[in-house]
Formats: sequence, structure tokens, C-alpha cells
Amino acid sequence: MAIRFDNRVVIVTGSGNGLGKSHALEFARRGARVVVNDLGAARDGSGASSEAADAVVRQILDDGGEAISNGANVADFAEVEVMVAEALERWGRVDVLVNNAGILRDKTFAKMDLKDFRLVVDVHLAGSVNCTKAVWEVMREQQYGRIVMTSSSSGLYGNFGQTNYGAAKMALVGLMNSLALEGAKYGINVNALAPIAATRMTSDLMTEEVLALLEPEAVTPAVIFLAGEDAPTRQIVAAGAGVFARVVIQETPGVFLGTDRRDAEHVASAWEQISDTGGQRELEAGGEQTVKFLQKAAAELGIHLS
Ligand code: NAI
Repeated sequence: MAIRFDNRVVIVTGSGNGLGKSHALEFARRGARVVVNDLGAARDGSGASSEAADAVVRQILDDGGEAISNGANVADFAEVEVMVAEALERWGRVDVLVNNAGILRDKTFAKMDLKDFRLVVDVHLAGSVNCTKAVWEVMREQQYGRIVMTSSSSGLYGNFGQTNYGAAKMALVGLMNSLALEGAKYGINVNALAPIAATRMTSDLMTEEVLALLEPEAVTPAVIFLAGEDAPTRQIVAAGAGVFARVVIQETPGVFLGTDRRDAEHVASAWEQISDTGGQRELEAGGEQTVKFLQKAAAELGIHLS
């Protein structure tokens, strides 16, 4: 079944360039009405221009699609509210939000100015929070919504020189986890993408040969899937070079040390068993961990929990 977005309104932040542009064009090809948001900032977040977003809108209109350009800075909630109001005024609903806008201020933690740390968190995390907040009530009322966060392997696994970016990108996974739980009964699915693509963001990290393999268009199918009607929820999908993978956070079964051995030395001596991944699994919500731990302790102690 083709994944279509006819009569759906889609906001893609930071879609004047790179991945966002590729997503916006593909949503439009699949029938969506697209808000092409872009502040038009440089890679480090400085400056602003509507040129890039306007060019993407022109391309969509030339191909017979529907789109409007918006220059909101996602880190500014008032500007984001205006963007959502414009979409509602024009088309009456917002079905999909792809939080994609982002910047880099790479430096080792030792050399990093806290201003650069805050700015990166502001654009990636607060920017995604602002946009999500501005559409959340709309989606709840519609009883329908699809939100895609843009995370990163730098957050999921770490990357030298990217403490600010990695922290913000992993925070988006936390945001997704709880939003997915809160959105479930309103038909709002929330997922995350961990892309790998050759854009201006990565241009100085890779060789020419590798860059050629990593076109943004190879990532976009994951976003379309995560934003479609039959999308899953609370999933992290990594995508790049035509490869798609699911990222999972799991917990080992754990070890009950009892009250008599409950000290740091016993944690150290049980470390191999504690970290044994056999039987590890995903948990559906934080509370499940509490239940699991209580059940494990109770079973070992022979206590019956009601
Ligand atoms: P890009 O630099 O080509 O595009 C980002 C766009 O966001 C730019 O057009 C920029 O003007 C816009 N933008 C920046 N700050 C903004 C703000 N405050 N408000 C509105 N728009 C703003 O970068 P790329 O590579 O396309 O990245 C897109 C997303 O994917 C980012 O969130 C990035 O962190 C993430 N990502 C990219 C990876 C890659 O390999 N390219 C790897 C992992 C994550």
C-alpha cells in the first residue's frame, strides 16, 4: 500500500537544506500540504535568510504540490506559534510534525563555552519541544498526529567533540518516550530518526567517496514510514546509505543481592552477572522497571506481593 499524505498538513522544520529539504519534497510528492520552515541559519546557527525555504517551496509548487514557506526560529516559541497559526489558517489542521532543524557547535568539553552548549540544546531540544507544544493541542483535538524527532548516533552512542549535540539528541529520545505514552489515546504517534547523510552538517567529517553514498534521499523513506497512518510509535529508526535499522534500549534481567550483601563490593563482584545481556528486554514505560525489581526481590525473598 502506498503511503500517502493527501489532505494531510505536514510541518518540516529546517527544511530549506539537507535532510529536511529531502523530507519536505517527498511529503509533497505524496500529496501533503507542506510547511517548509527554515530560519536560514549558517551551520553554526548564525544569521537568517528565507532564501533556502522559499526555493524549496518554489520547487514544490512547480511540481504541482502545495507548500508555504516559514522563517520561524524553532528556539523561539512565539515564532513557532505564529508558524502553526499560519498552517491552521491556510489548511485547518496539522497532521505531521518533523522536528529536523539543527545546528552544530563542536568542541571538546574541555574547550567548550557553556554558551555553545546551551545554544545547541536550545535549537535541538527546546526547538523540538516548542514545535511539539504548539501542535500538541491541535493533534489531540483532531485525535490524530504523527511526530518525528531527529536524534543522532552521537546521542545514542556518543561522539568525540559533541557533548552538547549528543546530550540534546539523546534528550529527544526521552521526550519521545513520554510523549508517545501521553499521545497514545489521542492517536498521536511519536517516533525518532537517527539519520546518517552527507549534508553541510557532515561535510568536513567524511571523504568524497563516502559522501556520495550518503545522499539525504536515502534517509527520507524512514521519515515517511514513521509519519504515515500505519506508523509504529515510540520507535527509534536509524537510516542512511539505504540501510535501515531499529535502535532498542534494553535492560538486563538484573541481580538480587539481598539485604545482607547490599553493598558496593557485592555490586562489584556481581558485575559480570549484572551486565550479562542474556534475557535482556525492552521496557514499555519507567514504571515497568519498578514492578520488575519488586517482583524479583519478592520472588527471591519468598514474599507475595498483592
Ligand atoms: P543542515 O544544516 O543541512 O540542515 C539543517 C537546517 O536547519 C538548515 O537549513 C538550517 O537553516 C535549519 N535551522 C538551523 N537552526 C534553525 C532554527 N533555529 N530554526 C529553524 N531552522 C533552523 O543539516 P542536516 O544534516 O540536514 O541535519 C538535519 C537534522 O538531522 C539535524 O537535526 C541534524 O542534527 C540531524 N542529523 C544529521 C546527521 C547527518 O548525518 N547529516 C546525523 C545525525 C543527525
